[in-house]
Amino acid sequence: MKPTVAPFPAARLRRTRVSPAIRSLVRENSLSTDDMIWPVFVRDGEGVEEPVASMPGVVRRSVDKIAEAAAEAQALGIPVICLFPYTDPALKTEDCAEAWNPDNLTNRAIRAIKAAAPEIAIMTDVALDPYNINGHDGFVVDGEIINDETVEALVKMTLAQAEAGADIIGPSDMMDGRIGAMRSGLEQAGHRNVSILSYSAKYASGFYGPFRDAVGASGALKGDKKTYQMDPANSDEALRLIERDLNEGADMVMIKPGLPYLDICRRVKDGFGVPTFAYQVSGEYAMIQAAAQNGWIDGEKVMMESLMAFKRAGCNGVLTYFAPAAARLLNG
Ligand code: PBG
Repeated sequence: MKPTVAPFPAARLRRTRVSPAIRSLVRENSLSTDDMIWPVFVRDGEGVEEPVASMPGVVRRSVDKIAEAAAEAQALGIPVICLFPYTDPALKTEDCAEAWNPDNLTNRAIRAIKAAAPEIAIMTDVALDPYNINGHDGFVVDGEIINDETVEALVKMTLAQAEAGADIIGPSDMMDGRIGAMRSGLEQAGHRNVSILSYSAKYASGFYGPFRDAVGASGALKGDKKTYQMDPANSDEALRLIERDLNEGADMVMIKPGLPYLDICRRVKDGFGVPTFAYQVSGEYAMIQAAAQNGWIDGEKVMMESLMAFKRAGCNGVLTYFAPAAARLLNG
């Protein structure tokens, strides 16, 4: 369908912009607290809220503080919280066994949140990097990130998280065959209603820098992630990955990073019509916050504009570190 425009002055397109009332009447997209997933960082200790230097406004919280934050998020109307652990370097090993420890930070945080804020859904991250001595998302053998053995470990990790009470599993590792393996593992263990939000189109991006600081993986990482994360030059490949993950049983899909990849979001939504999410990653957040702190942009305005962009691009929602701040604004 082609939009029609009458000749001037029959059509004056400014007429529908003339007042706040008319503008709200013709607004095509809307942003609500329902659209947000809030990523948070967990660390050990008690009563701890430790700022992440490269992400102004973001802190690493001990489990008790995570539970408090989840209760606040629930009160703000944020439907989902997503957990990322800052693992004690002493617990990082080559075999990554801490990843499926039922009492690791993530799994303890899940139980604490379920007790404190039972209505908020909990999403987890599945990848080995927070537990891996070399910072990679998979096992490294002779310099190669090995696929199939990694997938077996990811299934163990998934089951430990589901056992602890996770509602949504978020595989961010980009190994092949992981979604099918996780889905059948979950089914066999009776976790039929635990869903999978696959990081299907995840690019090897420079925008993850501050996150790797936040989870303490930047020092550890040897080399880059280009043999498993996508080449930023590719677009058709993203569609193949999405289709593959859906066929293996993904319930929802994600594109990551966010703003630089809105073209992918639009293609995915138009092509598949499935629940589609984007991750406004740490570097995107850091850039907005840094410019705002310098007084170069209006931080609140840019925050809301950037979040609306995801809706306009067809996303059902967005993972964003801005979630509580945006929710407060939306709630007035
Ligand atoms: C790790 C993971 C990363 C992010 C989420 N999960 C980083 C990476 O792949 O190196 C990035 C999130 C962000 O930058 O905000 N599997």
